[in-house]
Amino acid sequence: MPYAHITGWGMSVPAHVLTNDDLSKMVDTNDAWIREMTGIRERRIAAENETTSTLGADAALKALTVANVSPDDVDLIICSTSTPEYLFPATACLIQDQLGASKAGAFDLLAACSGFIYGLNMAAQAIKSGSAKTVLVIGTETLSRFVDWKDRSTCILFGDGAGAFVVQASEQPGGIFGGVMHSDGSGGDSLLLPAGGSKHPASDLTVHTGMHFIRMNGKEVFRFATRVMAKATLDAAEASGWKPEEIDLVVPHQANLRIIDAAARGLKMPLDKMIINLDRYGNTSTASIPLATVEAVEGGRIKPGDKLVFVGFGAGLTWGALAVQWTGPLPTDRKVNLKQNYLWARSRSIYRRIGRIIEGILWGRNA
Ligand code: ACO
Repeated sequence: MPYAHITGWGMSVPAHVLTNDDLSKMVDTNDAWIREMTGIRERRIAAENETTSTLGADAALKALTVANVSPDDVDLIICSTSTPEYLFPATACLIQDQLGASKAGAFDLLAACSGFIYGLNMAAQAIKSGSAKTVLVIGTETLSRFVDWKDRSTCILFGDGAGAFVVQASEQPGGIFGGVMHSDGSGGDSLLLPAGGSKHPASDLTVHTGMHFIRMNGKEVFRFATRVMAKATLDAAEASGWKPEEIDLVVPHQANLRIIDAAARGLKMPLDKMIINLDRYGNTSTASIPLATVEAVEGGRIKPGDKLVFVGFGAGLTWGALAVQWTGPLPTDRKVNLKQNYLWARSRSIYRRIGRIIEGILWGRNA
């Protein structure tokens, strides 16, 4: 059975920074409260021309560059997001088109902030079963578009961004080991976006009552998160045959510093074994774990051979953890020219669109 290795990584965040001081001019809040209660100092907000798919595709392209893999070699794209561009088509398909990943299947996965862990786990299963050799897993969000900027209890928390991993098959031991995935739908109303789906389709009423914004019972989510984080981490390590003391670093979902601190105490680990970057990006939901990982790898904190556990929780309620021995790019003699690939992908997509228009004219209504 092949092993599933993380061989490429990339991130993409909007340039626009929204600080706590900026927020204090929009709602009744202040920097000291936000920092003390959450650990967040600033977050990134997508510009008008940035979307969930453009951020995701940018992160994915960087991950493919690190792995030295052509988009044509990708078998499957799993895009985890709670802020898709449309209910359908899947954001994964928009990214597939932007990358020119011509042979890839593509689908979205919705497990809120646990989504990247679910997606990585699915990618590893696809590789271990032999159904895929190269999988792109992307976590991407534009939460700023669903935040009520008048609600100080939620608008201080969230930010936009994307992270991506390339997962590849190899006979070398290592990579993604055991994991756990859990859910408890009885807590679904603790954190939800009520309107826009089939239960409450968009209407004057949903817009006027703000049902298209994120609603959260912060205290309930906080209690749930502190209950599950440490146990899920230990369960993932155990499922991989690792003792707790073998874990080098934990990459937790970046929601709140106090939740991460509680998890560290539950694990009897010093806080410096936790990778933390929420001070600069806030809660980017499913993008938070890859964003924290990419920065830690690029900063030299995560090195090949390190034993990591990714752990997250989120709306659903969902939670999960995954044990990973960090690898790095697989050795290859091939040099992929991704810029050329990207330009070719863009023109191929345009030709396909023109082709569809011509086909429509030729066949008309009789097709
Ligand atoms: N600025 C200043 N004061 C505020 C603010 C603010 N932004 N927000 C609330 N307050 C006030 C409240 O009005 C309240 O005042 P009062 O005591 O006079 O009534 C006081 O601060 C305490 O407010 P609470 O809402 O009770 O604060 P709490 O201790 O619950 O902390 C927080 C709020 C930080 C949101 C916390 O509940 C939390 O982090 N929960 C977890 C949220 C989370 O992780 N969500 C993401 C899940 S992942 C996903 O799926 C997207």
